[in-house]
Amino acid sequence: VTVYVPRDSAALAVGADRVAGRIADEAAARGLDIRIVRNGSRGLLWLEVLVEVATPAGRAAYGPVSVADVAGLFDAGFLEGAAHALGHGLTDDIPYLKQQERLTFARMGITDPLSLSDYQAHQGFAGLRRALAMAPTDVVQQVLDSGLRGRGGAAFPAGIKWKTVLATEAAQKYVVCNADEGDSGTFSDRMTMEGDPFMLIEGMAIAGIATGATQGYVYVRSEYPHAIATLNEAIRLAEAAGFLGADILGSGRRFALEVRKGAGSYVCGEETALLESIEGKRGIVRAKPPLPAITGLFGQPTLINNVITLASVPLVLARGAQFYRDFGVGRSRGTLPMQLAGNIKHGGLVEKAFGVTMRELIYGYGGGSASGRPIKAVQVGGPLGAYLPESQWDVPLDYEAYAAFGGTVGHGGIVVHDDTADLSKLARYAMEFCAIESCGKCTPCRIGSTRGVEVIDKIRGDQNRAQQVILLRDLCNTMVNGSLCAMGGMTPFPVLSALDHFPQDFGLVVPDREAA
Ligand code: NAI
Ligand code: SF4
Repeated sequence: VTVYVPRDSAALAVGADRVAGRIADEAAARGLDIRIVRNGSRGLLWLEVLVEVATPAGRAAYGPVSVADVAGLFDAGFLEGAAHALGHGLTDDIPYLKQQERLTFARMGITDPLSLSDYQAHQGFAGLRRALAMAPTDVVQQVLDSGLRGRGGAAFPAGIKWKTVLATEAAQKYVVCNADEGDSGTFSDRMTMEGDPFMLIEGMAIAGIATGATQGYVYVRSEYPHAIATLNEAIRLAEAAGFLGADILGSGRRFALEVRKGAGSYVCGEETALLESIEGKRGIVRAKPPLPAITGLFGQPTLINNVITLASVPLVLARGAQFYRDFGVGRSRGTLPMQLAGNIKHGGLVEKAFGVTMRELIYGYGGGSASGRPIKAVQVGGPLGAYLPESQWDVPLDYEAYAAFGGTVGHGGIVVHDDTADLSKLARYAMEFCAIESCGKCTPCRIGSTRGVEVIDKIRGDQNRAQQVILLRDLCNTMVNGSLCAMGGMTPFPVLSALDHFPQDFGLVVPDREAA
């Protein structure tokens, strides 16, 4: 019997290693022959540690399992998929999973992340094999035709970026994967590196082949030690099997890959600060132009994409651009692995095609707030994303539709707050966060954020409130238009959305809706 116990950080944090050890001991004590596979997480985080058992009907799920539950599970006959208070039936039939459209995350939690044979048994390396048989321009065209846009947050068409790097002549080009996942409430990059690292490696190898880059770097935040370890091991295995290195699968094409560890700075997720950091310098933002695609790492043409962007590429190549393009709405094609976090009952990973609504995500999947209180505001797109009031929860998720009301989709992070949240405090926090994380290169961000904290304090303390609100709006306008990068340029988004939609939290007069 095969028993699956996740090795993802989210499961480890709630005792997965101890649960796996206890299951092994219990089986040995009972003279039962079992095989324990340490899979990635299925992304149903409130059920971690989610233990699965392979049965003839499919995998049966039990969770959240603690060490104390293990003996009882054996007694109940969980190895045969028997009923138990912690049982959820077949994993694939759990509505949270069943209703998703898992394209990029299709293998997540199903395979052993470090088994090359498991990966290949689940369509792994089909995209790379196809890319190796194609001309680089055709590979780039596939990415372009798929409609895939940068999943780090900026949503720039990936194919155009790839085309720019391909068209730029140089003796050395690079592919850099931005795995500095710093947005609040986000973990899809981490899950990918821990749960399906070969997918990222395959995506980067395809990117190298397509653009003419022979060296790749994955810049991973230092807060992700498990991701770093898994990725390093996966790279070693892929190299040994000929999927990376001097002669990929006997094609004569070359691509090497290395992991670089960040040092805890949020702004190093900004692409040019990230390049500085890899070069061994302080993480300070570079002015653009020149674009990294033309003058990037060590002054060479560099393709920088987020983990999820690169991880989406193998599927695009394996199934064809049209397959991917058929998902989504408007100019937002494909799927987005969204991350439900904050005050939410069922936090986890939900991959859906664009077009899903926030209400569906936070109530349909998330089950409402963890506290059981009404949800007041949802911050989408990280600490620089706007707070969405209920009136915006029915807008189909789409980069353009969100931009139209001042929202951001970003990296798909969704942080939920219930009705006890004070949005003036959260607005203050946005400014404070910017003041702490600013690289200091430009004045609107470096000075503006500190002044922003002070002005919000005055508003909260009712010191000349009306005038301070005018000042705050003016300051936000300067930061949006005068900052060099998204750090200072987007910090006003959460601030202004809080002010516009929750004026009562700032002590401002609330428009009388009844009278209106
Ligand atoms: P951007 O709009 O300046 O650039 C997007 C990308 O397209 C960059 O890689 C840029 O070099 C490239 N690009 C632009 N024009 C190009 C051209 N003609 N040819 C080739 N490449 C071109 O946005 P930026 O500053 O890179 O990212 C900002 C976003 O980052 C925000 O929207 C925010 O959502 C997101 N973000 C994500 C975080 C995370 O943890 N994932 C953290 C903080 C911000
Ligand atoms: Fe640095 Fe902030 Fe200016 Fe970005 S906006 S360059 S983080 S000072």
